[in-house]
Amino acid sequence: MIAFGDSKRLLPHSNFNSNSNPNPPSGSPPLRERVFSGIQPTGELHLGNYFGAIRTWVHLQEGYDCVYCIVDYHAITVDYDPKELPRRTLAMAMDLLACGIDPERSILFVQSHVPEHTELAWIFNCFASYGDLTRMTQFKEKAKEEEFVSAGLFDYPVLQAADILLYRASRVPVGEDQLQHLELTRDIARRFNHRLGEEFFPEPEPILSEAPRIMSPADPTQKMSKSLGEKHYIGLMEPEDSIYRKIRTAVTDIGPRGSEMSPGVRNLFLILKLTAPEGVYRELEGEYHEGSLKYIKLKEVVYEHLMEHLRPIRERRQKLEEEPDQVREILQEGAARARAIAQENMRRVRELVGVGAGALR
Ligand code: TRP
Repeated sequence: MIAFGDSKRLLPHSNFNSNSNPNPPSGSPPLRERVFSGIQPTGELHLGNYFGAIRTWVHLQEGYDCVYCIVDYHAITVDYDPKELPRRTLAMAMDLLACGIDPERSILFVQSHVPEHTELAWIFNCFASYGDLTRMTQFKEKAKEEEFVSAGLFDYPVLQAADILLYRASRVPVGEDQLQHLELTRDIARRFNHRLGEEFFPEPEPILSEAPRIMSPADPTQKMSKSLGEKHYIGLMEPEDSIYRKIRTAVTDIGPRGSEMSPGVRNLFLILKLTAPEGVYRELEGEYHEGSLKYIKLKEVVYEHLMEHLRPIRERRQKLEEEPDQVREILQEGAARARAIAQENMRRVRELVGVGAGALR
């Protein structure tokens, strides 16, 4: 298996950012920078989520104090099914655990189990600029798709800022599409600190992994995504015959075959690079450049190595499926640990803002 290319770059800077925890309790272990990231409970992880994001989350556990959150309050900002949501939340937890999120080392929890997220979001509403929010690209795009545009959808980035800063996290692994939200998070932190006269919140920086973008097998000009429809993504837990079919029918050459790979062929080679030994990759790449490679062979090899790569994840996921109580317990424990940090930080936030019973003393 090919080594995770940029794992070294993911290790923390030696110049530790003291912002992330200025007041460590005495006798605690050496400090690590805190990482926070969130994912929506879409119900099922696909190859794009896994290779693009979750694999990075797993590697970050080596060098950081990681807090990972399933953001169900973000999921209700658009049309959704309230009966389905809890099932999807639990399924996402199982997927993350199966991929290697380790609840011994990291905190894994569900956003709505820690009510301080929404409390801080309200306070941040009063420190976020309305004008800035109107300029959020993701809001403008999502608003176009929705029949009913909720105020929650508009406010989505403020809740995201609260997620991160509630733990005073200084590093946030995200994709390119979230950089604008992170910039807004820094603006909120800066404004809060400045107005209230204390450097309480860090200004969190992104960790942009060189996450390869896996494309849709059916339309390799678009990013793999569940919202495009069934044939546009490959779920980690999808039945083998269905994965086989999607790879066999993956679009390869749309135009004439040149020296430059078409998006579909490039996508197959990308999956191969991520899952097969380098020798296998090199050999097929050589055949491609010679012009002797049959795409049917490429697809067979991609399928074989992909399944090999996914096998341990799928096995772990299967076991977790049989023990949902254990997963509920992990989430409960995660929420308790998250909440201890959140409550301590909120105590100071309320004091600084001048609200809460404590402020009347
Ligand atoms: N908005 C993020 C996404 O759609 C999910 C998210 C919510 C998040 N809160 C977060 C990501 C905090 C990083 C940090 O991908």
